Amino acid sequence: MDMAVLASGYGSNLQAIIDAVERGEIKGRIKTVISDVKDAYALERARHHNIEAIYINPRDYPGRKAFDEAIAALLEERGIDLVILAGYMRLVSPVIIDKYRGKIMNIHPSLLPAFPGLEGVKQALDYGVKVSGCTVHFVDEGLDTGPIILQEAVPVYDDDTVESLHERIHQAEHRLYPQAIRLFMEGKLRIEGRRCFRDEN
Ligand code: GRF
Repeated sequence: MDMAVLASGYGSNLQAIIDAVERGEIKGRIKTVISDVKDAYALERARHHNIEAIYINPRDYPGRKAFDEAIAALLEERGIDLVILAGYMRLVSPVIIDKYRGKIMNIHPSLLPAFPGLEGVKQALDYGVKVSGCTVHFVDEGLDTGPIILQEAVPVYDDDTVESLHERIHQAEHRLYPQAIRLFMEGKLRIEGRRCFRDEN
C-alpha cells in the first residue's frame, strides 16, 4: 500500500512514520510527501530518506478548490491508498475527501472532541484541564470531527508551558500515529458511522 504524507511544518510525526516503515512495522511505503510551505522541514526529512518531496504553492491557484484539485491529481497519479495529514495546516476540501473517504487520517494534539482547531495545546492549558493528549482520526468535512481511531492521554502539570505540554504530547503522537497507520495497512480498522472499531482478523 502506498501512502502520501501532507505536512506544513517540522515533520516530527512524518519522521516517526518513516522510522516505523524502515523498521518494518508498517507494511507500506511513503510514496510522496507534499507540503504547502516551501521551506517546511518535513520536505527536508523526505529528501533525506529518498522520498519524493513536493512543494505546491497555494498562491498559484485561484482558490482552495483548485489547489485541492491539484493535490488530488498528484495523489491519483501516484495511486495513493492512504493520505496522512501530519501537521498539515489547511482544511482539506470535499474535492479530496470524496475521493479518499475513510482513507485520510489526521493527528490532533488534544483529546477530541475537546479543543479542536488551531492551538489545541494552548486551548487545553488555558482551560485548565489536568489531562490532555492526542487523537488520530479519519478526516471528514468538519474541523477535527471524523471517526476516532486511537487516543492517548497525557498528564498536564502545574508548571507546564505550551511548549512543555506539546513536547509530552508529541512523544505520545510519535507512538500513536504509526500504530494507527499499521492497523489501517493490516485491514484492521472498520468504520461504522461515527465509530471506528479495531478488528483482530
Ligand atoms: C502535531 O502536534 C499534530 O498533532 C498537529 O500538528 C503538530 C505537527 O507536528 N496536527 P510535527 O510537524 O509532526 O512535528
